[in-house]
Amino acid sequence: MSDFTSGFWSWFIVLATVLSIAGVLWLIRWMSGGRRAPGEKVETMGHVWDENLEELNNPLPRWWLIKFYLTLVFGGVYLLLYPGLGTFKGLLGWTGIGQYEQEVAAAEVEYGPLYEKYRAIPIAALVNDPAAVQVGERLFSTYCTTCHGSDARGVRGFPNLRDDDWLYGGTSADIEQTIMNGRNGVMPGWEPILGYEGVFQAAEYVSSLSGREVDSVVAGKGKEIFVQNCAVCHGADGAGNTQMGAPNLTDNIWLHGGTQKRIQETIAGGRNSHMPPHREFLGEAKVHLLATYVFGLRVDRDITER
Ligand code: HEC
Ligand code: HEC
Repeated sequence: MSDFTSGFWSWFIVLATVLSIAGVLWLIRWMSGGRRAPGEKVETMGHVWDENLEELNNPLPRWWLIKFYLTLVFGGVYLLLYPGLGTFKGLLGWTGIGQYEQEVAAAEVEYGPLYEKYRAIPIAALVNDPAAVQVGERLFSTYCTTCHGSDARGVRGFPNLRDDDWLYGGTSADIEQTIMNGRNGVMPGWEPILGYEGVFQAAEYVSSLSGREVDSVVAGKGKEIFVQNCAVCHGADGAGNTQMGAPNLTDNIWLHGGTQKRIQETIAGGRNSHMPPHREFLGEAKVHLLATYVFGLRVDRDITER
């Protein structure tokens, strides 16, 4: 694909480039003229500082000139071989995309069979193979840490993958499914329906589910609201539903923050979280290794963190 919509700009750039090089060449020849015969006195430019510091009109040193000409020759050869002059593609036919595709193809030849070998092994067994887990860990640090953090403990809005609290289920199949196809957790906003008062009461009840001290009258009203509006997704006991990614509200683990203010904010405005799909992007074999790594985090998870 060309960035140029008409031939004019291509020729404009060709001309501008060639003329600049010619201009530089002319300038340097002009400046380097006038070598003196031995013994001839050097003219001054007429500038004098501190009485005896004079600017002399000496020609440029030869070593410097040679280096300068070499850079011009290099530029000329480069423009001949590689893209640079307008739409001219260069005699070598090199493109950035071509080089990238070559490198990807080479990596595929080298690592493809390895990934395929791992792919045939079920995650529950693969998780005991340190080499496979290490490959998964590297893939994780390349593709997942931007959102889930380098330690996989997540940040607000991006779930912790080391605890045993799963929005979408924590079996190896659930985890692989999540990474393969992505997830989209949608919670509608309730302020328009419940009003500020209702949101406040529901939040108070949600807090009580994690064993916090609350105003029991307010929480009691919140419970009625919860049964009517929230139980469909979060379950009658508030323990969540991994089918739709509705979080467990009883474990004091919070995706969007657990302060009273945050909980109210979530209920009032709703939330919409995206875990991007990776099947197309990385291929199933790599996703299999990623799922193995994440599943392994759970197996040897650090229980002291809670
Ligand atoms: C653009 C940000 C982003 C990237 C990149 C990303 N994730 Fe996620 N991930 C999320 C969000 C947000 C959620 C929660 C989705 C929801 O609440 O519906 C999530 C959820 C998950 C879950 C489900 C957690 C649970 O409790 O059920 C797993 C597993 C997961 N991600 C693994 C990965 C892996 C492995 C990668 C790298 C291949 C990755 N994620 C890359 C944003 C991201
Ligand atoms: C249509 C299903 C649905 C209904 C109805 C629903 N929720 Fe949710 N809720 C969700 C989902 C899905 C999430 C997770 C959103 C995400 O992935 O970012 C969520 C998240 C939450 C959270 C944040 C939890 C955390 O860990 O940060 C709270 C609090 C919450 N809901 C409370 C409520 C209350 C109170 C009601 C009723 C007024 C309600 N929800 C009704 C689906 C629902």
